[in-house]
Amino acid sequence: MGKAFDWLDEKFHIRAPHKRFLQRRLPAGLSYFYCLGGAAFTSYLILFISGALLSLYYVPSETEAYESILKIQREVHLGWLIRGMHKWSATLLIVFMLCHMLRVFISRAYKAPKELNWIVGCLTLVMVFASGFTGYLLPWDQKSYWATTVGTSMAATIPVAGRHLMYFIRGGMDVGGATLIRFYSFHVLWLPVTMAALLWAHFHMIKRQGIKGGL
Ligand code: HEM
Repeated sequence: MGKAFDWLDEKFHIRAPHKRFLQRRLPAGLSYFYCLGGAAFTSYLILFISGALLSLYYVPSETEAYESILKIQREVHLGWLIRGMHKWSATLLIVFMLCHMLRVFISRAYKAPKELNWIVGCLTLVMVFASGFTGYLLPWDQKSYWATTVGTSMAATIPVAGRHLMYFIRGGMDVGGATLIRFYSFHVLWLPVTMAALLWAHFHMIKRQGIKGGL
């Protein structure tokens, strides 16, 4: 394993740029509360891997989505486990993110010069909630259909642009096959890519600005 990594490192130079970051000395005064961001990131990785596995069997079509979920749950080897991991890692991600946000707030790490990282964190939170909302429709059962109908109709109450926004989110006037495809695209492509970019910015700023202990 070590030799294989050495061989890769020789080609890509992965070790040197990360060595200083991963092996740096941490400041005094850090506690387990400072692991909450890392716990959120671990949940995000599990979410990503389990989602990638689910996408091998899930079919985003009006006529087949529900059946494909039943197949994952009942026929696919360990499908029920992967689906459960996806659901639970999503729940844990939200719990860890909110706790992490509370730690940052209590230790006043949202203040300058880290204000932009706080804003990036807030945007990540919005992306996570949007991922939860779009993912909820994918089982394509009665509960998800009506939850999406109610949720998207709220957009229409926004003055002036509301109805256009609802039309854009649904991909038409009503929740239907077009909405399912749109939500699937947001759920597996647009939102994860945006989140990956936001997390990259988040970690880059932590690397540049460092963490100050004291909670
Ligand atoms: C998927 C979501 C997130 C991940 C994976 C993540 C990850 C991390 C990690 C690993 C750190 C290093 C220190 C620590 O763990 O406490 C950190 C710091 C920080 N995070 Fe997050 N974070 C997320 C969401 C958020 C949110 C929602 C906010 C605020 C709205 C936020 C604001 C900050 C700030 C301001 C810092 C710097 C704190 C300091 O220097 O003490 N993060 N984040």
